[in-house]
Amino acid sequence: MIKISSIESYLPAKILTNDDLAKIVDTSHEWIYERTGIEQRHVVDGECASDLGVQAAQKALLSAGVLAKDIDAVIVSTCTGDTRFPSCACKIQGAVGAVHAFAFDINAACGGFLYGLSVADSMMKSMGLKNVLLIAVDTLSLFVDWTDRATCVLFGDGAGAVVLQNSSDENGVIATKLYADGGGDNAKYIMLNNGPQNDHRGYTSMSGQAVFKHAIESMSLSMNEILQENNMTMDDIDWIVPHQANRRIIESMCKLKGFPMEKVVMTIHEHANTSSASIPLAIRAALDENKIKKGDTLLLTAFGAGLVWASAIIKI
Ligand code: UT7
Repeated sequence: MIKISSIESYLPAKILTNDDLAKIVDTSHEWIYERTGIEQRHVVDGECASDLGVQAAQKALLSAGVLAKDIDAVIVSTCTGDTRFPSCACKIQGAVGAVHAFAFDINAACGGFLYGLSVADSMMKSMGLKNVLLIAVDTLSLFVDWTDRATCVLFGDGAGAVVLQNSSDENGVIATKLYADGGGDNAKYIMLNNGPQNDHRGYTSMSGQAVFKHAIESMSLSMNEILQENNMTMDDIDWIVPHQANRRIIESMCKLKGFPMEKVVMTIHEHANTSSASIPLAIRAALDENKIKKGDTLLLTAFGAGLVWASAIIKI
C-alpha cells in the first residue's frame, strides 16, 4: 500500500475579497457568490509557484517525520510553474534539500493532484520507491487578465503537499482513475492565450458554460466507475472531496447522482479555484476542522483544462 503519511498546505498571505475585485472590474460580491460560491481568494504578492510549493513541502516533511535527504522523488503538479524550464520540481527539490531525489513536473491543470497521485502511486510500486514528495501548486492569479471579469474572479493561489510512503499499513491510495479528451473543441474550452508582445505569461480564457456541463457529467461518471471497479458504494465513503471550481457544479453533480451534500468538503468560499492545489487544500482544511478523521475513506474527483478528469479513493 502507498500510505499518505502527511498532507499539508500553504496559502499566500494576501487576500482579495469579492468587494476588492468589484473595485477593479465590473462585478459584485452578489454575482460572484451566487454564481460560484466564492467569497475570497488568496493571491501571491511577489511569490511564484515554487515559493508556495517549498512552504507546503517543508510542512509535509516535518509532519511526516521524514528527512528531505530520504526522499526518492519530488513530483510537482502545476500548470503555472515559475518558468517553462527548469521544472518547478527541480527548484523545490533543491530548496528543500531532497538531494537524493529525482524530480519532474506534471501538467494536468486542475486535475493535477489526482494525476500526480496516480503517477506517484504507480512509480512507487513499480520502482520500489520508499518516500515520495508530491506537491500540487498553482498561481493562476499570475495568468489571468485582470480586466476580464469572466475569469479573474474565479481563481486563487495555493499549494498542497503530501509525503507518500511504501508501507504495510492498510491506509493509503486504494485506487486512481485518469481520463482525458482533447478532441473536438475540448482543448479550446480552457486555455492559456498568448500575452502581448514581450509578455510571455499569457492569459486564461474559458468557455464557462461548456466547461460547467462537462465537469458535472465527467466527474459523476468517473466517481461511479471507480466505485464500481473497486466493488464499493457511497456507503463505503466518508467524504467526497471534489475539485473546488464552482459550488453549483458540486451541488449539481451530487444531485444528479444522489450523492449526499453533507458528505462533501467545500472550501470554494475561502480559496476560490486553486487549480491543482484545491483538493489537498480542502483535505487539510477538513482535517483541521475535525471533519475528516484518521481512517476515513475519501472519494476525490477533479476536472480541468485539456480536458482532463480523474477520481481517486484514498484511506487517510
Ligand atoms: O477549474 C477548471 C474548470 N472550470 C470550471 O469548472 C468553471 C466552469 N464554469 C463556471 O463555473 C461558470 O460557467 C462561470 C462561473 C464561469 C460563469 O457562470 P455562468 O452562470 O455560466 O455565467 P455566464 O458566463 O453565462 O454569464 C452570465 C452573465 C453574462 O452577462 P450577459 O451576457 O448575460 O449580459 C456575463 O457577461 O454574467 C456576466 N458576467 C459577470 N457579471 C458580473 C460574467 N462574469 C461576471 C462577473 N461579474 N464576474
